[in-house]
Amino acid sequence: MTKDKKLRSTEWFGVPGKDGFHHRSWMKNQGFPDDQFDGRPVIGICNTWSELTPCNAHFRILAERVKRGVYEAGGFPLEFPVMSLGETLMRPTTMMFRNLASMDVEESIRANPIDGVVLLTGCDKTTPSLVMGAASCDLPTVVVSGGPMLNGRWRGEQIGSGTHVWKFEELSKIGEMTVEGFRDAEACMSRSVGHCMTMGTASTMASMMEALGLGLPTNAAIPAADSRRNVLAQLAGRRIVAMVKEDLRMSKILTREAFENAIRANGAIGGSTNAVVHLLAIAGRIGTDLNLEDWDRLGRDVPCIVNLMPSGEFLMEDFYYAGGLPVVLRELGEAGLLHKGALTASGKTMWENVHDAECFNRQVITPMSDPFKSEGGICVLTGNLAPNGAVFKPSAASPSLMQHRGRAVVFEDIDHYKARIDDPDLDIDENCVMVLKNCGPKGYPGFSEVGNMALPAKILQKGITDMVRISDARMSGTAYGTVVLHISPEAAEGGPLALVRDGDMIELDVAARRLHLDVSEEELDGRRGAWTKPIAPERGYWRMYHDHVLQADSGCDFDFLVGSSGAPVPRESH
Ligand code: FES
Repeated sequence: MTKDKKLRSTEWFGVPGKDGFHHRSWMKNQGFPDDQFDGRPVIGICNTWSELTPCNAHFRILAERVKRGVYEAGGFPLEFPVMSLGETLMRPTTMMFRNLASMDVEESIRANPIDGVVLLTGCDKTTPSLVMGAASCDLPTVVVSGGPMLNGRWRGEQIGSGTHVWKFEELSKIGEMTVEGFRDAEACMSRSVGHCMTMGTASTMASMMEALGLGLPTNAAIPAADSRRNVLAQLAGRRIVAMVKEDLRMSKILTREAFENAIRANGAIGGSTNAVVHLLAIAGRIGTDLNLEDWDRLGRDVPCIVNLMPSGEFLMEDFYYAGGLPVVLRELGEAGLLHKGALTASGKTMWENVHDAECFNRQVITPMSDPFKSEGGICVLTGNLAPNGAVFKPSAASPSLMQHRGRAVVFEDIDHYKARIDDPDLDIDENCVMVLKNCGPKGYPGFSEVGNMALPAKILQKGITDMVRISDARMSGTAYGTVVLHISPEAAEGGPLALVRDGDMIELDVAARRLHLDVSEEELDGRRGAWTKPIAPERGYWRMYHDHVLQADSGCDFDFLVGSSGAPVPRESH
């Protein structure tokens, strides 16, 4: 703590008279001794535990371990719940509720006597929602990720969360997997506590926390079931008390340099395209200048050096045993692609954290000089079909399709796609470009992960597993394919994607960063005149979401949530 800075919590627990009585007395019904209110740092443990969020269902144990660390360091830990976003069950999509959960986090922190925060994050959106909310308060904060599940194992084969679901679905479609086998694989894939163990969005965001410096070293990869995950939580509990004393607030860690480190780390791990919208939104909250073009510019020289599904063959457990993210960050540092002096939650610089990291398996983490894939970074495409940009993940795509011209087969929305895709009369071949509209932030609504449309059965039966697909949707981080995503503006906002028709020719040229609809401006103007805006939802949160969500190129935050209000002490209530 800097000398003359008073702890926020003393405004509740350290005041005389009836106000102090109120604040302390009711807390004492939980059995806290009087000395807990003596001016020691109060640490909020923001918990996304929920049985409806299976990836975070072990968080009660993790929270207890954080508390141990806080007590050891002389702090007073208080756990509180926030909205938990479970990827597998919530409809229409968790992305619809990311900003809502962030509001819960922000207001819960600001309204309470909290001096520092530990964020317990795991399943995809639980990470960005908590970090966004906390960033708008800007207190000392450390992230503890819940950790990935143990590797999936099914009939002698290593299987990865999500990634193998797409594969199994394709095999079932062409009659090469039985219903019994499909059912049997379920428990074999998800066989321990933790989040998806591929380099999907959860693992990517856990890696982003470590690369940004918000998580302690090794945060990204320790399996949830490994006792060292609990040790990390305990150490984070100790560390947050020191961070409060050092006044090491989020804004001192989330600098431009930190975001540049994270973007390059995302390229090196072959991370999820979802990180693009989440990091843009987090940067917007903390007030760091970051835009979509930064992703392309900073990621261009970064090869993918992590051989994990969905782009590769290994899984997060293997990544941890190989040395984990510290090795990747060290490789980036040695290649001149890391801001070594960026400050981190450990109290040390990024380079002090990782400079002696050792790799124990060069099949899993390759050297920069001999990378797993030469192109790791996210590409940002523009053109008359995506005036404000679209994203593309080259490490998950087929090189042979990255320059392609094809005839559009258009699906007006996800229901239209489902109704048509396996129609034997659908006029489609492997050279066509599949186009999906109205699945962007407003369109679905909620920007769902449907961009990697499954191919028609009649094409899969030919042994073809990839085609060019374009949409304003997102894609699961566990998915793969030659897929253009996040087209902005989206179709539901009247973006040019809304104007594409069956039979139009579309050109994709990833090297030139170009996505082009080969239709004359005059023709497009005519189609634009005939376009009608979809009807907005009538009431409730969906209405607020619709009226305020920003487009994908701006991170999909609400317009009124961008920025920080800090954590002033709110007015007394009694
Ligand atoms: Fe929770 Fe994948 S479903 S991380």
